Amino acid sequence: MNILLLGSGGRESALAWKMSQSPLVDNLYIAPGNGGTSQYGTNVALSPLDFDAVERFVADNGIDMIVPGNEDPLVAGIYDRFADSGVLVAGPSKAGAALEGSKDFAKAFMARNGIPTARYQSFTAETIEEGYRFLESLKAPYVLKADGLAAGKGVLIIDSLDEAKAALAEMLGGMFGKSSATVVIEEFLSGIECSVFVLTDGNGGYRVLPVAKDYKRIGEGDTGLNTGGMGAVSPVVFADEEFMNKVDARIIRPTIDGLKKEGITYRGFIFLGLISVGGEPMVIEYNVRMGDPETEAVMLRIDSDLVELLKGAAQGNLGDMPLAISDRAAVTVMLVSGGYPGSYPKGKAIAIDGQVDESILFHAGTKVDGDGQLVTSGGRVISVSSMADTVAEALAKSYRSAGKVCFEGKNLRRDIGQDLLRLESQK
Ligand code: AMP
Ligand code: GLY
Repeated sequence: MNILLLGSGGRESALAWKMSQSPLVDNLYIAPGNGGTSQYGTNVALSPLDFDAVERFVADNGIDMIVPGNEDPLVAGIYDRFADSGVLVAGPSKAGAALEGSKDFAKAFMARNGIPTARYQSFTAETIEEGYRFLESLKAPYVLKADGLAAGKGVLIIDSLDEAKAALAEMLGGMFGKSSATVVIEEFLSGIECSVFVLTDGNGGYRVLPVAKDYKRIGEGDTGLNTGGMGAVSPVVFADEEFMNKVDARIIRPTIDGLKKEGITYRGFIFLGLISVGGEPMVIEYNVRMGDPETEAVMLRIDSDLVELLKGAAQGNLGDMPLAISDRAAVTVMLVSGGYPGSYPKGKAIAIDGQVDESILFHAGTKVDGDGQLVTSGGRVISVSSMADTVAEALAKSYRSAGKVCFEGKNLRRDIGQDLLRLESQK
């Protein structure tokens, strides 16, 4: 079959790498892709949000399945656009994508379906006074979330009540444009987070992919500004069988059943951002796609044919298709531009010193410039993924390989996975 993968990050590199190994694939196109994705398929200069252009490309190239890597085309309704075309889309309908596109919708969905999550209320400019009262009823720190998409920046966690009130006013006043016209305020949950990925076919069939933990802050010891993610580790020591049984019974099944009951078409990945509060899983957020950089670790642990699984999901027919998962560990360490997540330079030449043979380099913010030189083109530049029998060995491989990738200003976190290794040693 011919597949069109939408996106340009490290996640799309890992998806392309995995899909390109499938015997089911004739042609794999990545739109727009990056400086590394052409190893796995053909890069296409196409904006995933330009649905007319996507439709023309799909028709001209006999595309059988579209795989959206990130949420934007899904929230904009790419599933619905192709619903009657005979072209498969591995993802949710626009209504399903609202689980990520609207935090207010996601919270109400969880409340309706009895899914454990932080207590919350939503407010608009008209109800700001009630918002202040609700903040007064909570204990610090205060969690304020822009309802709509805000490029990962829409969540504020604030220690002082006065500052939280000021932030509520700013958010409702347009801090994140229309995205913060509604603000969700919720109770702060204390615990350790993990990312659970489910592939569902919208007909009650689903498979749970390897669990991963990502590292969002720029600084070691989880300090400093939030980033898109600085590394990931899979498996996650505390997401053991007992924990995952709770996740399945209390969160995954009620989510799948709730979507069905509410008539919401959903044939793709569900990403559950979970927090373990004293061993009890609660939902921090839903995303309607895979995680980045979690995908750059998770894909290494999937032994089955991802294309077959995605096709099964998109056709509403996962049936008893196997999902074989390696019991080895996979990790990824992100190499980022100096200054990221603040402003950073682009166009820095990237050189690889010798052979990288114990890791896979998943390109993210890279491109090949007019002179054929590989250069940086984003904040997150290359994700260095490795597999080994243990997390510690996989990390050692990634750090050795990371040392061979050179560009001016290169930055990385040296402590990826250290918290999990500490937890493991306490077991
Ligand atoms: P998000 O952008 O929705 O992924 O949220 C960013 C981060 O904020 C999450 O990964 C959590 O670390 C944190 N967060 C969000 N909601 C809560 C909450 N209710 N309690 C504690 N931390 C939270
Ligand atoms: N790594 C978190 C995300 O993709 O949203």
